[in-house]
Amino acid sequence: MCGIVGYVGSKQAWPILISGLKRLEYRGYDSAGVAVLGPDGLKVRKCKGRVSDLQAHVNGDPMTGTAGIGHTRWATHGEPNDVNAHPHVSGDLALIHNGIIENYAPLKEELISRGYTFSSETDTEVLVHLIADIQRTEGTDLAESVRMALQNVVGAYAIVVVDRKNPGLLVAARKSSPLVIGIGDDGDLFLASDATPIVEHTRNVVYMEDGEIAILDREHGLRVRNTRNQEKRPSIQALEIQLEALEKGGYAHFMLKEIYEQPRSIRDSMRGRLNLAQGNIVLGGIKDYEQRMVNAKRILIVGCGTSWHAGMVGEYLFEEFARIPVEVEYASEFRYRNPVINEDDIVIAISQSGETADTLAAIELAKGRGATIIGICNVVGSSIARQTHAGSYTHAGPEIGVASTKAFTAQVTLLTLMALMVGQRKGTIDGARFQQLLQELDAIPAKVEKVLKTEAQVKYIADIYRDARNALYLGRGYSFPVALEGALKLKEISYIHAEGYPAAEMKHGPIALIDEEMPVFVIATHGASYEKVVSNIQEVKARKGKVIAIVTEGDTTVKGIADHVIEVPATSDALVPLLAVVPLQLLSYHVAVMRGCNVDQPRNLAKSVTVE
Ligand code: M6R
Repeated sequence: MCGIVGYVGSKQAWPILISGLKRLEYRGYDSAGVAVLGPDGLKVRKCKGRVSDLQAHVNGDPMTGTAGIGHTRWATHGEPNDVNAHPHVSGDLALIHNGIIENYAPLKEELISRGYTFSSETDTEVLVHLIADIQRTEGTDLAESVRMALQNVVGAYAIVVVDRKNPGLLVAARKSSPLVIGIGDDGDLFLASDATPIVEHTRNVVYMEDGEIAILDREHGLRVRNTRNQEKRPSIQALEIQLEALEKGGYAHFMLKEIYEQPRSIRDSMRGRLNLAQGNIVLGGIKDYEQRMVNAKRILIVGCGTSWHAGMVGEYLFEEFARIPVEVEYASEFRYRNPVINEDDIVIAISQSGETADTLAAIELAKGRGATIIGICNVVGSSIARQTHAGSYTHAGPEIGVASTKAFTAQVTLLTLMALMVGQRKGTIDGARFQQLLQELDAIPAKVEKVLKTEAQVKYIADIYRDARNALYLGRGYSFPVALEGALKLKEISYIHAEGYPAAEMKHGPIALIDEEMPVFVIATHGASYEKVVSNIQEVKARKGKVIAIVTEGDTTVKGIADHVIEVPATSDALVPLLAVVPLQLLSYHVAVMRGCNVDQPRNLAKSVTVE
């Protein structure tokens, strides 16, 4: 969703805000704006488009000042245009916001009746007028006015406000939307939606909690007030992100870089956890909850998008190895369905960003009903990581491309480790098979390296199907979620309509779509359903569909029927998703590039979905 950045200190704010916004642009990129407090008072500049458009917009008009705020928007209320872009202004105040104000309509009516006029269609503008109104009528300072205003607000928000009358001060507040504060060595204070704009300035950060208000004051430093409006000592943590991880490192796009990082990210996700010498798995982050997992009568897995697909692989893994029934739920459906949740249920919440609003709400619901919540998150210190009882980080490193790639394989790696570990503790997996799977899992990074070598061939296939209007992805068993993920990757970055289906389900409907125009991507690796999938491929070919199959190295049967095959090394069925997804990621990437799409920032999407 929207990206927020703020700075107050001794340096010029503009370059800090712009470079911060560029780092945050993956969160939203339909318009951008800044407000700077300096010798010219409060200067606000904003426009439709990207951060580079904002730079061009202010060209030649120096934004001088040592405090300011910046915003890159993902539109919720009101189309992306210059007026709806943030900051929004009321008198001396300027405000930026990430989230949704649910009761903005009655608040707006009330403010209009009190003489305020609105220029934008946003929900945000009510906030700045509300705060200005309280400041005017109550005579309270900025922080207190913000606190009082937010008592009237229903919704999710991270906000930052500046006041022309107090140019050394930023006031921030959060509820269900992340905010991180950076404390520089020289007393400079930074603020952002996540740590990526902060890391180049300082490694000392404070993660704001829900309901807190932070006052970033050039004179008096950082002050944080908790939900009871009491001053609290900020808990300073050290950032571990490396700056290089936030750069493209010579690749044309973040997505391609992240696809190529997978051998490393999978290995990092297993490091210190998969112990080949001792033949065991140790997951330190969930150690205290291991027995609860072993005793669980049921596991619920919640997530959205790609994380939900990883959860589906998790279902197969836990059912096969730990013999625990699993239900995989879209977090957004789960939270509004009044689901049956038992106190001995384990809920595994999966999220790359750790900020997805629906997943957070599902966690809250399940926690409230007494379930144990285990997180699988990529972003250290994220809201989901902090809301769960225990969890394991995926250690994939920052994922900047909006299309999730390395996060998926890292999530599946973690789920594999968890399922095998619980299975071993329960005795539901045979010892020799357990050891064999450990060996195979350990070999996966090298096998992914090998799959990446198919890129030239995948690119050749991408060129043939780049103009397709539709595509079908088929798989069975462990490969069904991979088919779903392949279809999601293609549609989100190349805007080609694509569907994933269990291969056998094709004959119950989607087969009607098949003709000589339709590319059908089939995961047909050797394993339990191989022969059945071969029959499904025959069914497609009988209707003149074009088949692109992911097969096991050395396969000859499918090679004889399919139009194209891409080989992946042999592995157990359970580990196939970690290999088979890679050529599908590469294919989507190349199709999108060939179609001239913005791969890292596809239209209408945002990396971190902090609104429901
Ligand atoms: O950060 P999360 O894993 O919670 O995000 C969930 C989805 O929004 C995300 O996977 C989305 O579907 C991606 N764009 C997929 O590539």
